[in-house]
Formats: sequence, C-alpha cells, structure tokens
Amino acid sequence: MTIMSVTTAAFTDQRPGTSGLRKKVTVFQQAHYLENFVQSTFNALGNIEGITLVIGGDGRFYNEQAIQTILKMAAANGVAKAIVGQNGLLSTPAASCVIRKYNAFGGIILSASHNPAGPDGDFGIKYNIGNGGPAPENITEAIFQQSQVISEYLTIDNDDISLSTVGSQTLAGMAVEIIDPVSDYAELMAGLFNFTAIKALLAEADFGICFDAMHAITGPYAKQILENQLGAAAGSVINGIPLTDFGQGHPDPNLTYAKELVEVMFSTDAPTLGAASDGDGDRNMIIGANFFVTPSDSLAIMAANAHLIPAYKNGLSGIARSMPTSQAADRVAEHLGIESHETPTGWKFFGNLLDADRATLCGEESFGTGSNHIREKDGLWAVLFWLNILAERKQSVAEIVQQHWQKFGRNYYTRHDYEAIDSQIAKDLMSELENKLPTLTGQTLAGQTISYADNFSYTDPVDNSVSSNQGIRIGFGNGDRIIFRLSGTGTQGATLRVYIESYQDDSDKQQQDTQQTLAELIQVADDLADITKRTGRTTPTVIT
Ligand code: G1P
Ligand code: ZN
Repeated sequence: MTIMSVTTAAFTDQRPGTSGLRKKVTVFQQAHYLENFVQSTFNALGNIEGITLVIGGDGRFYNEQAIQTILKMAAANGVAKAIVGQNGLLSTPAASCVIRKYNAFGGIILSASHNPAGPDGDFGIKYNIGNGGPAPENITEAIFQQSQVISEYLTIDNDDISLSTVGSQTLAGMAVEIIDPVSDYAELMAGLFNFTAIKALLAEADFGICFDAMHAITGPYAKQILENQLGAAAGSVINGIPLTDFGQGHPDPNLTYAKELVEVMFSTDAPTLGAASDGDGDRNMIIGANFFVTPSDSLAIMAANAHLIPAYKNGLSGIARSMPTSQAADRVAEHLGIESHETPTGWKFFGNLLDADRATLCGEESFGTGSNHIREKDGLWAVLFWLNILAERKQSVAEIVQQHWQKFGRNYYTRHDYEAIDSQIAKDLMSELENKLPTLTGQTLAGQTISYADNFSYTDPVDNSVSSNQGIRIGFGNGDRIIFRLSGTGTQGATLRVYIESYQDDSDKQQQDTQQTLAELIQVADDLADITKRTGRTTPTVIT
C-alpha cells in the first residue's frame, strides 16, 4: 500500500453547525473539500491508529462517493476497521445504534437530514463519538480549528471497494465490514417494545397504519420492522424506496412537506396511525385519523405513558427538551416527580444528560424524539412507541391526546419559519431585539406581563460547560412564551424561527384553532422584532 500525502489549502467555511457540516453538493465537490474536512476530523481526534469507525449515510447523491473517499483516508490514517452499511446506507439512529453495539471509537455519518438532495441539493457530514451521539462542541470546534490550518491530508491510491455485499474485506490493511443496515437496529427495537402486543394490534381488522418514508432512508427499516416483522399490511409503508434525490422532495416530516401522508390522514377513511420520517430517519411526525399531534405534545404524552412500554416500565430518570420545545413535558415531569431539563437546540446537548442518567426521554419541537437507547433522535422508534401505547390503551390517537390535555392542560404551540432571508437583515433583527430586552421585563403586552426577557444561556449540569446566545426568550407571567432564534442548519441566507406557546388548562377551551388562539401573541412577536418591516415578509415560509 502506498500512503500519499496530498498538499492542500484550507477552506475557511468548514465550521460544523448543530448537525455537522452542511453545504451544497457543489461545495463538497470542490477539489479537496471533503478530504480537508475528514482529515481535520481525524487530526482533531488525535491518534486514531487501530480504532474502529462506523461509516454510513442517508443514501443521498454523493453518499457512496464520499464513503469511498473516507474509507481510503481512514486506511491511510491507520484506522484498523471500518463498519459500513451495505450500499453505504445507515440511518442516523441506526448508525448511533451500531457505534454503541460494536463499541466503535466513533462514526462518520453522511447526511443533510431533511434538506433536499440531488446534484443541486445539499450534502452533509458529521462525526459521532463513542457513545453514539453527535460530537460535543469542544470536538466540533477542534475540527474547525484544524480545518483552518490544514496543509495536507493522507489517502491511498487503491481502487474503490464494493459496498454492495455484506461481509468482510480489507482495504490496504484496514478491515472493512459491510453490514446489513437494518438488522442491528431492528434487534434493538424488538428489545424495547412489546412486539407481540403491537403485532396483535396491527392484525386487528379496523387498525391501519400509514408510514411515509418520503423516498428516503427509513423505507427499508420501516418495511422490515412494520411490515415484515410486525405484520402491517403490505403497502402500509409508502414512498419506501430510497432515492438519491429523495424523489425531488423535501423529506421533512411536517404538515407542509409530508403532503401525501397528510392527505391520507385527513381523509374520511383515514387509518388509525400515520407517521413520517425524514431524510436520515431521525425525525418523526405522528398523526391520528384527522388529528395532528404536535411534537411537543408527542414528547409529553410519550413520557406520561412510558410505563406502558417494556423498556421504560420502571420509570424515567428525567425528561429533557430543547428550549423552544413547548413546556408540556415539564408538567409531566413534575407530575412524575422527576427531573426536567431545558437545553439549547440540537440533539448533542442531550448526550451528557443521557450518559449520566439524568434524562431517559428527550425531545425537540422540530419533530425529534428519542431516549437513552441510542444518542440520536429516532424516527421509527417514536412510531413504535406510539404503536405500543395504542396497543395498550386501545383508544384513538385523538382520544389519548385529548385526555392528556384534560389532565395536564394544553400548550397551544406553533413555529413560524422565515426562510432564506438576507443574513445581515436577520443578524440586525436579532441584535436590535436583544438591545430591547432589558426594557421589556414588566411591560404588559397582549394583556400579559412579561416576567423575563433574555438570551438563553445553558450550563450543562454534568460537565458545567456553558453555551450562550442560544435564542431570545420572552416569558409572560402566565407561562406563555415567545422565542426567536436563527437556524443553525440552513444553507441559504438565514432562517428566522419564531416559536409561540400559550397554556390552557380550561378543558372547554382546548379545542380551538391553534393559529387563532395564538394570533395575539403572533402579532406581539412581529411587533417586538419588526419582522414584517425588516424582512418584507408578511407571512412565514413554513408554519408548523
Ligand atoms: C433544526 C431544528 C433542531 C434540530 C436540528 C437538527 O435546527 O430546529 O431542533 O436539532 O435542525 O435536526 P435549526 O435549523 O433550528 O438550527
Ligand atoms: Zn434528520
């Protein structure tokens, strides 16, 4: 084997965001671009000789080519073994599962999650550590620092290897194990949930499920687990064949993008449960027949019903939610007498809490839920969780949610996204808003008094690390909240996210329209940040 050292020049834009490095495919196709980032990652990790790495991605355009590049660089850098999903495929949760199961040193996941794919779409790469979770900030920062000073990378001049057959091979002395991407994950799921009860439920004549894989990675997982193992009717999984361009779609499971599923679930003969997952399989949307479940409610309801699930029957150690996620889960934690945590946006902030057993369930408003079974959010896991609840409670999704509101109150909740706005306008909007914060506390708006207005800063209770500047929170005395933050995952201009929440414990007022109920607060948000005036936008790009 000949190890080659290739001279390269640093790119200035390789700072990993909340979910790794995400750029247009065309950016990744620049000479040395991917190589620089991979070598920077290896350099940041220090001595990687002899380690095992898991490698896989969501199957989008450039996935396999990137994996071939990474494998050669791994071999040249002394990695002892690479565990690779067949055809380069591994959903993000499956990658996390595999890293943990085989005690790998870490993993490289190729994905840009729900962002559109194809030659003109996006690509992404992220490093996960040995606990199976996204690298914490000290590592992503070290990668970025390395990327700023890199001057050479190592590779070998071997041919590409075949990723299509399960089994062992070697590449220039490095063992390469091609694994079935589904089986380890399926085995983990079978150990968490009551498959017998779910099977019986799915066999009931009047029970139907529709799972929309949105032409992305979860197709093979959902087909194997839901249809083959649990006996859901053939065809329950729709758009189940992963395509490199995700069928030209936008595989983000929400009411806007999961159109086909929404049509099925809001029709007269809708099945009992509808669900969708995103490009890399870590997000989920849950819908009952003619009934949408907000992700924030989903987390709270899962927590309140966790005792019905074999893996969680002995109770939860705590519940963690990202700051903009509604406070519904906090009420469940309080009721259960367990810890609740409010973390910055991004799954990586849950890692320490899960490792230290300070939280068992975690969730984000952005259609992400997960638990201590892995260190990523997990789309199909959430669907199985709901199926297991339905199997035990024998009620409809709507009944379960409404009973939850009656018991805990309802947190009306919406998120308004303003996508692709000018970056400078977005920055100015946020900084002007921040300047206003000191004057806001005590003011009365929309009939409610502001009790705090701050820029969220989080101190990790496990390692005491501080993450500041995580979004502007405006809290009212009655628990209502308005939150503003800029997306860390967009690839075009800036995306402003405005999150609005209002609590209602009067069960007579829990059946109202969300946007109408929140209209006054939505107007307050616009006034506070001058959104319309600054951006020229009169309506958000996406409302969830
Ligand atoms: C978005 C979501 C966030 C999630 C992240 C990765 O990040 O809001 O909850 O963790 O994608 O899936 P954002 O674009 O808001 O920074
Ligand atoms: Zn995702």
